[in-house]
Amino acid sequence: MRALLLLLGLAASAVQAIPHAENVEKRDVEAISGFWYEKIKHDGISPTITNGKSWLVFRNVKDYGAKGDGTTDDSAAIQKAISTGDSSGTRDTGSVFGSTGQPAVVYFPAGTYLVNSAIKNVIGTVLMGDPTNRPTIKAAASFTSSYLLNGVDSRYSGLVAFYHEIKNLILDSTAVPLTKSFTLLQWGVSQASQLSNVMFNMPVGATGHTGITTPGTGSPLILNDLQFIGGGVGSTLSATQYHLKNLYFKRASPPSRQKNLCLRLVQGTGQGLRFEGCTVGIDTTSGGNGLFNLIDSAATNTSIVVNAPASKTAQSSLVLENVIVDSSVPATVKIGGTGVLTGSVTPGSTWIRGNVYSADGSAPKLSTGAKITTSRPQALVNGTGSYYTVVPPTYAEYDISQVINVKDVAAHPVAGDGATDDTASLQAILNAAAGNQVVYFPHGIYLLSDTLLIPPGSKLVGEAWTELSATGSKFKDPKKPTPMVKVGNPGDVGVAQMTDFLFTVADVLPGTVMVEVNMAGDKPGNVGFFNCHFRIGGARGSKVETNCSSPKSCNAARVCAHLTSSSSSYWENSWAWGADHDLDGGSNTATPSAAGGFLVEAQNGTWMLGIGSEHQALYQMNIYQAKNVFLGLQESETAYWQGNGSTVLAPAPWTNSLLPSDPDWSWCAANDAQCRMGLYQRISGSSNVNIYSSGFWNFVAGPSRTYCSTDCQENAALFESNSKLYSYGFSTINSKTLILESGVGADKNVAAVLHSANAASPHNGFNTAVMAAYLRQSG
Ligand SMILES: *[C@@H]1O[C@H](CO)[C@@H](O)[C@H](O)[C@H]1NC(C)=O
Ligand SMILES: *[C@@H]1O[C@H](CO)[C@@H](O)[C@H](O)[C@H]1NC(C)=O
Ligand SMILES: *[C@@H]1O[C@H](CO)[C@@H](O)[C@H](O)[C@H]1NC(C)=O
Ligand SMILES: *[C@@H]1O[C@H](CO)[C@@H](O)[C@H](O)[C@H]1NC(C)=O
Ligand SMILES: *[C@@H]1O[C@H](CO)[C@@H](O)[C@H](O)[C@H]1NC(C)=O
Repeated sequence: MRALLLLLGLAASAVQAIPHAENVEKRDVEAISGFWYEKIKHDGISPTITNGKSWLVFRNVKDYGAKGDGTTDDSAAIQKAISTGDSSGTRDTGSVFGSTGQPAVVYFPAGTYLVNSAIKNVIGTVLMGDPTNRPTIKAAASFTSSYLLNGVDSRYSGLVAFYHEIKNLILDSTAVPLTKSFTLLQWGVSQASQLSNVMFNMPVGATGHTGITTPGTGSPLILNDLQFIGGGVGSTLSATQYHLKNLYFKRASPPSRQKNLCLRLVQGTGQGLRFEGCTVGIDTTSGGNGLFNLIDSAATNTSIVVNAPASKTAQSSLVLENVIVDSSVPATVKIGGTGVLTGSVTPGSTWIRGNVYSADGSAPKLSTGAKITTSRPQALVNGTGSYYTVVPPTYAEYDISQVINVKDVAAHPVAGDGATDDTASLQAILNAAAGNQVVYFPHGIYLLSDTLLIPPGSKLVGEAWTELSATGSKFKDPKKPTPMVKVGNPGDVGVAQMTDFLFTVADVLPGTVMVEVNMAGDKPGNVGFFNCHFRIGGARGSKVETNCSSPKSCNAARVCAHLTSSSSSYWENSWAWGADHDLDGGSNTATPSAAGGFLVEAQNGTWMLGIGSEHQALYQMNIYQAKNVFLGLQESETAYWQGNGSTVLAPAPWTNSLLPSDPDWSWCAANDAQCRMGLYQRISGSSNVNIYSSGFWNFVAGPSRTYCSTDCQENAALFESNSKLYSYGFSTINSKTLILESGVGADKNVAAVLHSANAASPHNGFNTAVMAAYLRQSG
């Protein structure tokens, strides 16, 4: 997403069980002797700014005067830890640092931090507590403002609010009067943001309190592993999309139960939601809701699990699968006030409201609540039929002696300064650490001139999105795609996890495979990527920012992530962004033309939750001859330079270096610019693919970025010759055809699912289409 849209007015890897009441308040990990990250040497830097080598990344709030004793007002100290910059200014004013030049981790040791006034966050900040004993930020009884924490930098709100992170904290309003209108967290963020392992502790019966609100227009990917206790509304979420994973809502007293909505939202997938004692679990009646899938979830002592508005069109599609309620729940779904579903939807069946494209190939029908038989691949589910999910690792169970800082190994010096080639030293460190130590990469830009192999037994931790950046001739040949980060060799099985990294290219490098995964996790999540993102151009530290004026000559990378056939990996919260503008205040019209976002050829189990892929030339997501893929919410945008008026028509600018896995646009006339655009999602020759939420957005077309008021893109997705493909919840803006299909019968390249047959209410003034279920290749 980009600034232009604002101007347009658009607005430990254990398998996680749904938490139960008895364990939800005790989520802390047992540590050997305190959290290693609090104690380790901190020497992160900010390579792209003046005096960046003395930039302070790590800030312990106690070093800024916070007491954490539950009685002292710590507001000013916490704010100072967030805002402190360097001699050129503070982090919260002006733009000297850009949005990538001021990384900071504001760290809270265990304790209760009483605050009397609202805390304001800044871009590039991680607010992090000690996961072994989550600290509490508690609003004092005398608190005056209407919110406890504004999680978003007010200079970058909405669609450009990237790079914000909050984890391992408890936000507490139990001292605030019950009827005061109060929000614990304002979180109107966009991609590359993470909110994880946070508890919202509100007083029971507090009708005025809300856990999370999302002011403005955001484009986030995921909220994960959160607990909401008490209050009036758990969360009021409005944004283009969300994947909601493992959220637990618990209410306790009759007064709050008169009103409490656990979740009010717009669009997305809920996976592992648990409601206890709610009046309404999920409420979508306030409008704007395009689609919602609720899977692997449970409710007890809740009056209505999902309360949806009446609709006679595709709008407000709803899918429930593996939603377990007990006899204390009178209504599972109400639509327009009428109960349409009671009881559970057990594994093996799917309940659908919305437009369905059936397996039998019959004309699409508006289902008002049919249950169909469905299938989930064995490789993707646990013993009771839920898709596996894992909690992002913190390695809190490791002692400080079991963790190394890559910049603290005398025999293998590493700079992370965006200038030194760190490849050989990092390789030596990773080889020695494998199977023994957690490897911590202080913030910086680590240049890689050759492939860095991540061996089995690797647990790597970044900091405020540590950058790994490709450079040099090894990555220049588009006909010889070469991995920058290679996770294992084919046949390797074991552990390789990465958390809080950013993969990028320092130059125009058409041969770069930014991440290639060959290894298979020895259990789900053991090969895993958590809050790891890709960025191509649009920021300091890369020639793609300054030296890339036309998509014709800006083949900046081959593919972001390639999951090869032998791999089995878990991805949670990942945004592959080909820049459309400069995050650091330069040009507003970046035009890199990397070929692809995610290329998935994996066979043995792939889980992708909260995935964004934007502005790549050929495809955003390509599931090619793959098996056993779970995709929980994919958000994508087309490259802004494609479409009518463009002279670079797909597969250009890659015509002379295509791979067998690339689409060929044989369905388009040679000069049809509206047809020759990158595909958001291509699924070809694959089986056992289960997708819950696809949201694909096109806003402008051609070199002058002409605003679209009609269907500017011919085809959103291509589904070719698949079996056991289940796609639930599919939404587009400005696409004429949602799904182009081949291999159903003898037909090839048939426009099977059309905007015109699935028209929904406009979203922020744009033309939308919504489909509930595509089952035509599920046989
Ligand atoms: C499977 O996962 C679900 C949801 O996380 C959990 O409730 C259930 O207990 C798990 N089943 C097994 C057998 O682990
Ligand atoms: C049901 O929820 C209400 C309101 O939250 C609470 O007062 C009551 O104790 C709960 N009942 C059970 C059996 O949990
Ligand atoms: C920048 O681009 C110009 C023109 O395309 C080219 O001649 C020059 O070599 C490039 N410089 C670098 C440092 O890549
Ligand atoms: C998938 O896993 C099975 C059993 O663990 C193994 O035999 C097979 O080789 C794996 N397939 C691939 C493509 O790695
Ligand atoms: C794009 O160009 C084609 C061919 O000239 C035309 O049919 C189509 O209407 C144009 N689409 C838009 C959105 O202007």
